[in-house]
Amino acid sequence: MPGRKRGASRILVTGASSGIGAALARHYAGSGRRLMLWGRDRTRLDSVAAECRALGAQVATRSIDLADPQAARAALALDDDAFAFDLAILAAGLGDIRPDGALTERPELVIELGCVNFTTPAMMATLLAGHMAARGGGRIGLLGSVAAFHDLPYAPAYAGSKAGLTRFAAALRLGMRDHGVSVTLASPGFVDTPMSRRLDCAKPFLLDVETAAARIARAVDAGRAHLVLPWPFSVLRAAQALLPGPVARAILTRTRVVQTPRG
Ligand SMILES: NC(=O)c1ccc[n+]([C@@H]2O[C@H](COP(=O)([O-])OP(=O)(O)OC[C@H]3O[C@@H](n4cnc5c(N)ncnc54)[C@H](OP(=O)(O)O)[C@@H]3O)[C@@H](O)[C@H]2O)c1
Repeated sequence: MPGRKRGASRILVTGASSGIGAALARHYAGSGRRLMLWGRDRTRLDSVAAECRALGAQVATRSIDLADPQAARAALALDDDAFAFDLAILAAGLGDIRPDGALTERPELVIELGCVNFTTPAMMATLLAGHMAARGGGRIGLLGSVAAFHDLPYAPAYAGSKAGLTRFAAALRLGMRDHGVSVTLASPGFVDTPMSRRLDCAKPFLLDVETAAARIARAVDAGRAHLVLPWPFSVLRAAQALLPGPVARAILTRTRVVQTPRG
């Protein structure tokens, strides 16, 4: 069939209303593809869904707040029953940091980031892995961050939630190794999206969002374990491990990052 894309055909993307998730939705859209797109902002979600339909995909959407893991669990059970997903990319995430001048993050923010960046995607990957294994296989992609590799004093909850997801992805992958389900973690550096645009800091090796999405999709489709993108962030991670502890800590505590508050 002309224009038909190969590979998975029943696809879930979370965070599809913006940034990397929206670009992944467009990447996978094509005839023969059924997409279920999750987001929170109904208007932006509908607009991404329309783009994907224009590219030939059948598209359904769900507006849901992933800060509520139990609601996400119930919704996923319904949607997986209806779709029997063979590919899921859990891209939704929040990138908030300590407000400028504050000593710590707000406890409420730590709870929210813990749910959206770790508890909900880990729960969803767990549910999907079991269902996919029972159906004979599937692919799961999780969105981490290079923030997981460093002790960021201005973003303990973000770095910690992504570090938790990093270990979770590797452990789930190992557990699913003999059951036909691959688990891929993508750890981006800076990608040009609304999330990174809120940060006032140097953004070395900034990637455009379509390039980032294409690389993430390629890694998930190939069932790779871990993609760090772009690659210089792997070098920075290794370099940090070689630095004497006091030097690494001095660099991290002197780095100042300011973020525009959420709109
Ligand atoms: N951009 C970067 O430089 C960068 C770097 C490293 C890692 N990442 C990771 O990449 C992923 C995508 O980020 P992005 O850059 O594409 O950010 P983005 O443009 O801000 O998009 C974030 C997406 O997550 C959804 N989301 C956030 N909180 C949610 C909630 N409580 N319930 C439901 N959905 C929620 C948003 O939905 P609504 O917009 O509808 O609220 C949006 O679709 C995140 O996991 C992020 O941590 C990004």
